Amino acid sequence: MGNGRRNDPDRSGEYVRLVSMTRAELREAIERGDPVNDEEFDAYLAPAARAVAARFWSPVRVAMLAARWLREEGAQNVVDVGAGTGKFCVVAALAEPSMKFLGIEHRASLVQRARDLATGFAVGRHVFFIEADARTTLIHEFDAIYLFNPFGENMYPLCDRFDDEVELSVDRMHLDVAAIELGLTRMRPGALLLTYHGFGGSVPDTFELTRETHIETDSLQLWVKRR
Ligand SMILES: C[S@@+](CC[C@H](N)C(=O)[O-])C[C@H]1O[C@@H](n2cnc3c(N)ncnc32)[C@H](O)[C@@H]1O
Repeated sequence: MGNGRRNDPDRSGEYVRLVSMTRAELREAIERGDPVNDEEFDAYLAPAARAVAARFWSPVRVAMLAARWLREEGAQNVVDVGAGTGKFCVVAALAEPSMKFLGIEHRASLVQRARDLATGFAVGRHVFFIEADARTTLIHEFDAIYLFNPFGENMYPLCDRFDDEVELSVDRMHLDVAAIELGLTRMRPGALLLTYHGFGGSVPDTFELTRETHIETDSLQLWVKRR
């Protein structure tokens, strides 16, 4: 742990944050599997992303457990559809460095933030982010897909949305959900699906729910494709 709180200007020097753990200390704690307070990790997010962290980004504990389950099931390549500011991918890669994570995100500004986060935590060789729409993602090429309610924001009132960088609507949500449902039917037997707060659609009956636990604000569910 760091010795007390201190000012730690970010790389751009645009703002100042207060943290009590350095990146190196956070890295080591997550690598060891120690509990980490979300506020400590979120201190390394940009202010706009930090302000909505509790609602928009996976809690550290969820990402660490999800990563452990994925490693235990033998996953090597994982896609996070709707990667946001990169918190899930970065924490998961720190916790389980044997896997590679690709984050798909439609907001260009968040893709840049996510890349910066991965660089800051020195996981750039395990974690990649691309600007893309969930509908264009070839999810069947991955061993595992992580979905933390990526499309729910389409139904939020304007004031609760992250920003207005992308167009959101209920029609769009239906198209995105349908694309994921179709992608799931194309995944190979043995492929994995992890959901947290669901994804607004139905998991095909070719998947079996094999692990489930209530953690933080909802159920984390691991599904294995059987056929
Ligand atoms: C609830 S956040 C989850 C972020 C990240 N997976 C995590 O757990 O920390 C959902 C993210 O999905 C993104 N998103 C929503 N619809 C998308 C789409 N159709 N294509 C790509 N990204 C999308 C949003 O911009 C948002 O950053």
